[in-house]
Amino acid sequence: MEPASTPSFRRLERVHEAILEELHLHQDAIVEGDLAGARCHLDRLNLMLKAHIRAEDEILLPIFAERVEPQLGCTPELLFDEHRKLERLLRRTQERMLTLERAGRITPREKVYVIEEERMLKEVIDHHDRRERAVLFPKLDECIQGEERRRIWEECEAIQRV
Ligand SMILES: [Fe+2]
Ligand SMILES: [Fe+2]
Repeated sequence: MEPASTPSFRRLERVHEAILEELHLHQDAIVEGDLAGARCHLDRLNLMLKAHIRAEDEILLPIFAERVEPQLGCTPELLFDEHRKLERLLRRTQERMLTLERAGRITPREKVYVIEEERMLKEVIDHHDRRERAVLFPKLDECIQGEERRRIWEECEAIQRV
């Protein structure tokens, strides 16, 4: 059981799910040719993903690096590098969105192109999610407990409140 005062870091899985859902909503809007909707969900995705990355980079990964023995397939350096990759892919998606907005419309072929171009972003989000679910969150739960966990959780929440 998880006492109310000490939330598990596994709850961050829900943040990952909300981020992926924004990407899906953005793509739904692209397929419908709704540029305003696509922009709205891309902006939400951008805010949520950047805030989540910041909470991990600034608060959680330093603790993971300091307290947890190096784990196969999930080191702090690897997670940190994947965050940079996510930011690059997000930037590319935003640039594409700007191009579409300047044109003011999207052709069927461009819809296919955008979905294909965003495939890599979706894949990296998925791989990153698996790594953190399997290793980062459980290990953080092991090495941060009680009052300290409550405090760290609140610091993360404050950054992610967008
Ligand atoms: Fe991450
Ligand atoms: Fe994460």
